[in-house]
Amino acid sequence: MAGRRQDKAIVPPSIVILTGAGISAESGVDTFRDKDGIWSKIDYRDVATPEGFARNPAMVHEFYNMRRERLKDIRPNAAHFALAKLEQAHPGEFLLVTQNIDSLHEQAGSRKLIHMHGQHDSALCALCEMRFPWEGAMSLETGCKACGSRGYVRPDVVWFGEMPYRMDEIFRALGTADLFISIGTSGNVYPAAGFVSQARQAGARTVELNLEPSEGVSHFDEAVHGKATEIVPAFVEKLLAGG
Ligand code: OAD
Ligand code: ZN
Repeated sequence: MAGRRQDKAIVPPSIVILTGAGISAESGVDTFRDKDGIWSKIDYRDVATPEGFARNPAMVHEFYNMRRERLKDIRPNAAHFALAKLEQAHPGEFLLVTQNIDSLHEQAGSRKLIHMHGQHDSALCALCEMRFPWEGAMSLETGCKACGSRGYVRPDVVWFGEMPYRMDEIFRALGTADLFISIGTSGNVYPAAGFVSQARQAGARTVELNLEPSEGVSHFDEAVHGKATEIVPAFVEKLLAGG
């Protein structure tokens, strides 16, 4: 007698991915906490807190003007392209959450993407709270495209002490995740560093892909360490092959 057919519906797994500066490192973007990282050269309290901006807005504008200028000419690498390919090929739920303010994921073709720490090519008016696309330098003279006021426009970047964007959507996705992959992040900054625990509570398989073990490596079921351009495409190929 032929075996009974399994009638259980096959539900494609739900994937949530978190990326950090390490995925963009091989595209030429500086990371924050590596030996020569951004925070080894400049105090984050001066350029990445609301208090720093209140103290010396010109210095903060100069810092982000420089970053914006440098981010203009960079291109996605094999790791960004692999994640875009995974999104296209994956039949189930998919969400890519990045802490990065560069636009390399969208340049590579990712669509279901949340920039939880903001974007380099966006401005935020501290007065009317409107966000609008931004190119070029920003200064104390910059006028808000929505309310017209001057002196309130700032980089649309989430600073320490501020709430990252779209957290409700992110937590919803983590709550139903079957697979959570953290890529190129040191696991120092919350709430992103806590996503692995949320995903685990939801029963997800959790994987770290990073150059070296992160702060939170012990929270993951699996870890692969190496360069993002090598380990991310390899992991995606394995996943698409059913592994
Ligand atoms: P970090 O600089 O803290 O961590 C980058 C991680 O990437 C490190 O663990 C590196 O080992 C790893 N890495 C470096 N090169 C790599 C490569 N080629 N391939 C794979 N991994 C590599 O950066 P984030 O974790 O992204 O926020 O930092 C989180 C947040 O802290 C940022 O979004 C930013 C920062 O302060 C704000 O400014 C609010
Ligand atoms: Zn405004």
